[in-house]
Amino acid sequence: MKKIKLENQPFGPFPAALAGAMVEDKPNYVMAGAVGCVCLDPVLYVSLKSTHYTTAGVKENGYFSINIPSVDLLPQADFCGLVSGKDTDKSKLFHSFFDEAGNAPMIEECPMNFLCKVFQRVTVRGFDVFYGEIVAAYATESKMCANKPDVEKISPFIMIGAEYCSVDQVVGKAFSAGKSLL
Ligand SMILES: Cc1cc2nc3c(=O)[nH]c(=O)nc-3n(C[C@H](O)[C@H](O)[C@H](O)COP(=O)(O)O)c2cc1C
Repeated sequence: MKKIKLENQPFGPFPAALAGAMVEDKPNYVMAGAVGCVCLDPVLYVSLKSTHYTTAGVKENGYFSINIPSVDLLPQADFCGLVSGKDTDKSKLFHSFFDEAGNAPMIEECPMNFLCKVFQRVTVRGFDVFYGEIVAAYATESKMCANKPDVEKISPFIMIGAEYCSVDQVVGKAFSAGKSLL
């Protein structure tokens, strides 16, 4: 198989998520591809540029939210990556809701929401990487099937290079599809 060498740049796929924090007493949301699961303990991380408006709010409150947008929210999600809360009020873009477990806003319109309590912060090349324990998680009832979030209904999207791509199909079962090779 012939391999072509690429630039040393992350290309993806990365999840498209909206990280939320309270900043100056208002909800603020930022588009983030640098989001993921650290362990099932349950810990998520988000890596935010230290100068972002959202970053100040996560540092101040010690909480952030991770909200998974559906494809139909793509323009609003991208908007959150184009403008900063420093210049534009993004608090009215979505309906925000809260959980008593911590002070970070979550997005009602997003089918999945995770509220995380920061327990560690590491700075890497101008970014703050926040590690947060999930203290509350929500799914929209109509996007669930048999009591579980349903990927076809949630219709999340990912980013690859400079493009957003849909992910709306189950293609296999985890811890099972590889059994044929055991
Ligand atoms: C597709 C996409 C992915 C992005 N991923 C990240 C990311 O993972 N971390 C980050 O710090 N900024 C990321 N950004 C940039 C921020 O979303 C952007 O600078 C935003 O305006 C900052 O908002 P704030 O100042 O209100 O926090 C991304 C932007 C886009 C469009």
